[in-house]
Amino acid sequence: MNTQENKTNEVVKTMMTHRSIRHYSERKVRKEDLKTIIAAAQAAPSWVNGQHVTIISINDQDRRKKMAELAGNQKHIIEAPVFLVFCADFHRIKVACELEGTEFKASVNPDLLLVGAVDVGISISNAITAAESLGLGTVPIGGIRRSPLEYIELLNLPEYVIPVSGLCIGYPSDIPDLAPRLSMEAIFHQEKYNENIQDEIKEFNHIHSEATKGRNSGGSTWTQRMANFYKDDFYVNDSYKDVGEMLKQQGFLKNR
Ligand SMILES: Cc1cc2nc3c(=O)[nH]c(=O)nc-3n(C[C@H](O)[C@H](O)[C@H](O)COP(=O)(O)O)c2cc1C
Repeated sequence: MNTQENKTNEVVKTMMTHRSIRHYSERKVRKEDLKTIIAAAQAAPSWVNGQHVTIISINDQDRRKKMAELAGNQKHIIEAPVFLVFCADFHRIKVACELEGTEFKASVNPDLLLVGAVDVGISISNAITAAESLGLGTVPIGGIRRSPLEYIELLNLPEYVIPVSGLCIGYPSDIPDLAPRLSMEAIFHQEKYNENIQDEIKEFNHIHSEATKGRNSGGSTWTQRMANFYKDDFYVNDSYKDVGEMLKQQGFLKNR
């Protein structure tokens, strides 16, 4: 790449130095900064400007403890000064339909789940960049989907609203190294999908095990980690097994 292509700015620098923070100092997050983060999350694009995202802030320590446990004993949920849950939300769409005297029928289409998940993803990404630009650290918490039914109850989520990801926010007490990424060739293809990425993956295995030596993942290769994580019995039958039931309970995919 030439220097022109490498041109950068403060926003891009913030994004390129992102790392998830799992240890926080006791320093509080200013209310105004939290408002800025929420406003940035809300400024994200959304499908047909449907704004299918609701963010819930949880402050009560007992509820935090319960939520930390339900997300797989993730203690940063208790320690972080701010803990948010991002939900994909079609309740407001149902209300809009009622106000117009129509029925909300689209929930039978699985595409709505992509709509909700993408809207949440973009919104949470805006929140992360905004928080990091203010000197704060964050970590998303997909672990909330280990106990989606319990989260729905704790958060009082109505039909057509599903919990997608948590987000811890606070001042870092410990800044980890950047987590390595695959080569750009592995993830950015020209014209058509390129399946021949074995070499890139093997090369990344070396980078990954070097970079993670001495960490929890203990110098394992990326393929070892992924193969272990995506083993059927762990993902489908164990920790995240209630997601299908949760989607039906919340009114999605009812004709399936
Ligand atoms: C949707 C989503 C859910 C995640 N859930 C968790 C989680 O439950 N707990 C956690 O510690 N990290 C979680 N992470 C953070 C990832 O583990 C992290 O982004 C990844 O290891 C790359 O590291 P980095 O963010 O420091 O670059 C999540 C990230 C994403 C995008």
